[in-house]
Amino acid sequence: MCGIVGYIGDGNVYDILIKGLHRLEYRGYDSAGIALVNPEGKLNVYKAMGKVSNLESFCRSKDLDAKAGIAHTRWATHGEPSDSNAHPHFSEDGNLALVHNGTIENYKVLKDALSQHGCHFHSETDTEVLVQLIEYIRVTNNCTLVDAVREALKQVVGAYAIAVIEKNNPDRIIAARKSSPLVIGIGENETFLASDATPFVEYTKDCVYLKDEELAVIERGEPLKILNLENQESQIDVTTLELSISQLEKGGYPHFMLKEIFEQPNTLRDCIRGRVVDGGKRFVLNGVLDNIEKFINAKRIVIVACGTSWHAGLLGKYLLQDMCRIPVEVEYASEFRYSNPVLDDRDIVIAISQSGETADTLAAIQIARRQGAFVYGISNVVGSSIPRETNSGTYIHVGPEIGVASTKAFTGQVMVLTMLAASIAQAKKTVPEEQLEELGRHILQIPETVKEVLKLNDTIERLSLIYTYARNFLYLGRGYSYPVALEGALKLKEISYIHAEGYPAAEMKHGPIALIDEEMPSVIIAPNDHLYEKIVSNVQQVKARGGSIIAIVTEGDKLIRNIADHVLEVPKMPECLTPIITSIPLQLLSYYIAINKGKDVDMPRNLAKSVTVE
Ligand code: AGP
Ligand code: GLU
Repeated sequence: MCGIVGYIGDGNVYDILIKGLHRLEYRGYDSAGIALVNPEGKLNVYKAMGKVSNLESFCRSKDLDAKAGIAHTRWATHGEPSDSNAHPHFSEDGNLALVHNGTIENYKVLKDALSQHGCHFHSETDTEVLVQLIEYIRVTNNCTLVDAVREALKQVVGAYAIAVIEKNNPDRIIAARKSSPLVIGIGENETFLASDATPFVEYTKDCVYLKDEELAVIERGEPLKILNLENQESQIDVTTLELSISQLEKGGYPHFMLKEIFEQPNTLRDCIRGRVVDGGKRFVLNGVLDNIEKFINAKRIVIVACGTSWHAGLLGKYLLQDMCRIPVEVEYASEFRYSNPVLDDRDIVIAISQSGETADTLAAIQIARRQGAFVYGISNVVGSSIPRETNSGTYIHVGPEIGVASTKAFTGQVMVLTMLAASIAQAKKTVPEEQLEELGRHILQIPETVKEVLKLNDTIERLSLIYTYARNFLYLGRGYSYPVALEGALKLKEISYIHAEGYPAAEMKHGPIALIDEEMPSVIIAPNDHLYEKIVSNVQQVKARGGSIIAIVTEGDKLIRNIADHVLEVPKMPECLTPIITSIPLQLLSYYIAINKGKDVDMPRNLAKSVTVE
């Protein structure tokens, strides 16, 4: 996810674009850039690593005269954050500049084909392939730029929101989208385009939301034209915005945390894209396949992480032991680093970190590498420290997570761990192909399934009112639901400040059950899996002692419905995928309880989004 801004009009193009980039910085900013076409048709492209303010400093002494322009803040997916990988990217002949939000899955195939036709590339990005492809088609077919963009996009597999501007033509911007957002602001003799409306809402509230596989031709002095990829004109539906800038940054949600909870169908789609292919038959996690021998021959896997990432790591243990028959240990990075660990070159260490900057996890990686272990990273921020320190890895691609309480990153981490385990199992043949294919099909369905689960929102909002003033909570689960219990407890305590403890449900009888009374509510994650009969008796044990119970159950559950005080039903899933589904009601429950208590859910007290100190 990144930020795109474009402008054609009589206003100060540079100022409008830079201000627009600042409005979009919450969408991610490892670099920023701008392309300006001046009245003589000269195309100037400026870009800089890091925040938009770095770009502003860089531009101070440059030629900023312009009649049209496009700009971009990058959230890298292909190629480290660097000046050369920053957008805008331009065609080799310098005719075109392009900015892009999304991922082009088949960029390697396209890049190889263009290279064979003499194209040279100056960045590692997938985006540069697209602008070179457009210009190659335009020159080879001797066609218009609009036709070249249409033809190029027909060859693209993946997600894109793009804006293209050309030298010698300060009167036109071409834009297009598929799976990534793009909105056009319609002003008086001026037109804006952006990833969301925050960059232009102060100038105009009239806008047009581009639909998937639509192209917009924005021409000075001409009415907006919208085409599909077959060159047929689409109807133009103008929307008048009512939202404030702050609400727009949050996508209309009151908090980033709620926005990120509801983003999960899309972020899981982005996480899965290109990694489960052939209808679910094949798992393609390049970081694993490039090192598959190491995973096949691993004596042991040690997972190191902190907080929510450590809970994802616990699920990694169940997944890898179940599917790959490899012994797995899961360690808090902060404990691992001081435990004088014993590792060798047949060990694999998996380091999980959303930010990629957690100090304890970084320290654990350095110890593991010193002892010769192969270290694999699972992170969200491309180019952060942890991906740079590991031998290989996989990005979860869920876009910037602004809320301090991790939600979409957790489900993204668990999804990557599931695909990782399946990739290894496929290579080791430790799981029958037909079982893997069924898992693959369910994974491809997960975004839609999560959308269904999010329909529990209103029920959970009402339910939260009953439990807002509880002073303690227990979260209980077994097997794959035990790490979900831990994660649900962490979510509640870190944003509502209510003490909450996650526990293996079977452990209750070894002491904690003494805590149960009508003042101690329990959230019990009880899907219909191979431990169902066991969890039913745990639910009965808690009820027998007067405890109030919220149970997360599989749709159609008949038993627990008659014991628990409240049940939240989720769709039936393969056991190893239930954590992604059952964790979402717990995210919503903690959010609404914290809101009822008037807490600052996006920036809870004492916490930081990335703990870069010991
Ligand atoms: C999770 O909601 C917390 N914000 C925290 O536990 C977090 O998961 C932990 O600090 C690890 O962060 P990382 O994934 O960026 O390494
Ligand atoms: N895939 C492109 C890149 O890595 C665009 C990423 C983004 O959406 O910012 O540069």
